[in-house]
Amino acid sequence: MDYQAKKISPLQHLVILAVALGGIWIAVKDFSLTREANANSTQADQIVISQPYEPITPIPLNLDLDPLKVELGEKLYQDPRLSHDNSISCASCHDLNKGGTDQVKYSTGINDALGGINSPTTYNSGFNFVQFWDGRAETLEAQAHGPVHNPVEMGSHWSEVIPKLKQVPYYRDSFVKLYPDGLTGDTIVDAIAVYERSLYTPNARFDQFLRGDRSALTKEEQEGYRLFKEYGCIGCHQGINIGGNMYQTLGVMDDYFVHRDVVEADLGRYNVTKRDWNLYQFKVPTLRNIALTFPYLHDGSAETLEDVLKVMWNSQLGRELREEEARLIVTFLKTLTGEYRGMKL
Ligand code: HEC
Ligand code: HEC
Repeated sequence: MDYQAKKISPLQHLVILAVALGGIWIAVKDFSLTREANANSTQADQIVISQPYEPITPIPLNLDLDPLKVELGEKLYQDPRLSHDNSISCASCHDLNKGGTDQVKYSTGINDALGGINSPTTYNSGFNFVQFWDGRAETLEAQAHGPVHNPVEMGSHWSEVIPKLKQVPYYRDSFVKLYPDGLTGDTIVDAIAVYERSLYTPNARFDQFLRGDRSALTKEEQEGYRLFKEYGCIGCHQGINIGGNMYQTLGVMDDYFVHRDVVEADLGRYNVTKRDWNLYQFKVPTLRNIALTFPYLHDGSAETLEDVLKVMWNSQLGRELREEEARLIVTFLKTLTGEYRGMKL
């Protein structure tokens, strides 16, 4: 009887065979994907995605940009001559050593003027579908006119900036060499925009994982990514920039603003369109290098990623925060720190 009981039925045979075949198929697929990724890892600018259906794509390892314009744009980005009193440069509020931000709630412009909205990162800004929290600039070129003329940022004007730049031989020569129009407001913002497109940060551990290197993330980090998708964070934070490709309302599931007075900056996209349905809508921010771009949210009210998650859970998902799951998601978010010019940020 004992022997009879242990005997495998034809149906069980089939099941075992199916499981074994499935296992072999997964193993072969895994192997070929890893091989594909390895074979291509020398071709720097080729994107290989091991999981073609992932809603996030890795940042290309190389972008083709005019190196002379990048160099010129970099000089301009660092140059305080773009401000009225020569005190503030783009880098003052978008410091590349601080994740492309100033790491404070609100930025300080000329004459110690305090802004009213958190400074977003310039890293990977070339991948955003529009610029600014409320999307009021469609392109980086359109954006860069803003801060120069903004009274609480650089408080200047091209007619004031251009004569100052013309006194510098490097600028005089470069603009003549690179642009038929020479040194103008438009060519200044063009060079800055080309430089900003060079501020892409590839090769985050998460991107290595997407390219097929399973060992790039720990089990906990992979679990964090799974939860990120399962909880629907991915519905808003997605694509190459893990954000930056749509507007969403802050407080879809509850009223984020019940605890404080609403100020103009909180109205979001409404400030641009004056349409009621755009109230409190913001461009979904990128989560790339998010470990470095604190404090968070347009009002800089969240100091840590844990603080932000409470808001996302309550206001964006309408759920109660679960400590352990939040911890795992934060672990995942920390794998999104990439490299700039080959160095980890
Ligand atoms: C005084 C601080 C300050 C200075 C100087 C400054 N910015 Fe900003 N920048 C900000 C703030 C604050 C925002 C967000 C404003 C908003 O969305 O309404 C911003 C937004 C941006 C954005 C949009 C990013 C995104 O994700 O929407 C880019 C790009 C940018 N700045 C580039 C520049 C460049 C280029 C310069 C120099 C010409 C510059 N900034 C100078 C504070 C500053
Ligand atoms: C319904 C869309 C939506 C969902 C779902 C969502 N977010 Fe957000 N997220 C936003 C918007 C919009 C902002 C910007 C809000 C603001 O600053 O006013 C934001 C901001 C953030 C920020 C701060 C970014 C910064 O630079 O300030 C983090 C981090 C973040 N979300 C992570 C998450 C995580 C993790 C989840 C899932 C638990 C999630 N989000 C779910 C839309 C969403």
